[in-house]
Amino acid sequence: MFVTFEGLDGSGKTTQAELLADALRAEGRDVVATREPGGTPLGEEVRRLLLEGMEMSRWAEAALFAAARAELVERVIAPALDAGKDVVSDRFVDSSLAYQGFARDLGIEEVYELNRVATRGLLPDVTFVLEVDPDTSAERVGQSPDRIEREGREFRQRILDGYRIVAGKYKERVVLLDGTRPPDELHEEIRGRLREHS
Ligand code: TMP
Repeated sequence: MFVTFEGLDGSGKTTQAELLADALRAEGRDVVATREPGGTPLGEEVRRLLLEGMEMSRWAEAALFAAARAELVERVIAPALDAGKDVVSDRFVDSSLAYQGFARDLGIEEVYELNRVATRGLLPDVTFVLEVDPDTSAERVGQSPDRIEREGREFRQRILDGYRIVAGKYKERVVLLDGTRPPDELHEEIRGRLREHS
């Protein structure tokens, strides 16, 4: 099973990804937990460029995210799934669709096409999008937003709108959840949804 978590920074997705990976392991399942951008030596280098590096053009940004993702799929995610393991990822392709495709206005379809090629069409079985409003996100992230989320409130609102569009497009796969709910309650709901799915 391949499960991904999505949302604005400060949405609680990292906490939920960790809770799920721990719970699956406690059931004796073999789980590979990863994050994007990153998760491989090359991916971590690309992450630094993307989040702390110089300004770049929009398609260069989308292509770098796709490059990090290609590396992660080839070296980590696909081998794990082939070996029958579960993979839990903090972000995956839907981040690019919401951030680059919609918020940066490159086009959700166009950015999907780039990623479809880079990932050889791999999509998660289930994706949880944790929704928090742009102000809650900013409060939770505090004084140190990365290069991308430094863009401001309006941009973060566009990311949220992008995730809603993506959720509408992939109804069978993407679940929207209220990220302001208590973490343990959200975790239980996520477990329930996954049971329904399998
Ligand atoms: P993180 O804070 O969850 O590690 O994500 C890093 C930042 O990169 C975050 O601001 C979201 C952004 N991002 C994109 O813009 N496109 C992508 O495809 C991914 C994976 C992340």
